[in-house]
Amino acid sequence: MSKKTMHLRLSHADLNGAHLAIVPGDPGRVERIARMCSHARQLSEHREYHAWVAELSGKSVIICSTGIGGPATSICIEELAQLGVRDFIRIGTTGAIQPHIAVGDMVITQASVRLDGASYHFVPPEFPAVADHFMTNTLVEAAKFLNLTWHVGITASSDTFYPGQERYDTYRGVVLPRFENSLKLWQQLGVLNYEMETATLFCQARALGLHAASILGVIAQRTSSESIEEAQIQETERRAISVGVKAAQLYLG
Ligand code: URA
Repeated sequence: MSKKTMHLRLSHADLNGAHLAIVPGDPGRVERIARMCSHARQLSEHREYHAWVAELSGKSVIICSTGIGGPATSICIEELAQLGVRDFIRIGTTGAIQPHIAVGDMVITQASVRLDGASYHFVPPEFPAVADHFMTNTLVEAAKFLNLTWHVGITASSDTFYPGQERYDTYRGVVLPRFENSLKLWQQLGVLNYEMETATLFCQARALGLHAASILGVIAQRTSSESIEEAQIQETERRAISVGVKAAQLYLG
């Protein structure tokens, strides 16, 4: 029996030659994504990492959750790379900070502001968190094909959901001076949205010579309201998943 990786509990044989991984944050999305492909089969479940293998365009793909945030994501990417994966499509959710972006829209990240910590363990601070151009184009093609509203641009990837995204509705209602008025600053600089994993994914991918792109469904509109409706989340996730799967299919040819 071939050796299993420490956290994902997957072996080389499990991947059936897959070079492409679809990586949602939420373990609950893994089966949904796998069932949109053919020959879907569950592989493992350990902590936040749930993995299925399936086929798209006659080729194997692995679908594995990253969990929330950069540190958990970095483990998933590292262990999938150990097993031969070279291309990563992240499917996530996000909060928009520009008024022209609506709940239900798609954000395709071109580059990320590094408000995380894990990316600094892969590349120095001066290095940009940039998507793979060709994979990003396939996400745009997929969003067009599915007739969805999409935006391409810069995302802010924060280690925290609350202070790093300037949410004051925490226990004490404070954020560090570094984050006071930070939402306004990112808006002025044209940043589209907040999420928690993409900067780590992009920097790690560049450092290891891998390819990565990110599709994010907008579940919150920070310029108008903080409320996040469950029905909206479900529909937005469905759209982001469709884009990610279609893009994977286009990419695999
Ligand atoms: N994910 C985030 O990180 N922030 C949001 O506002 C919504 C989803």
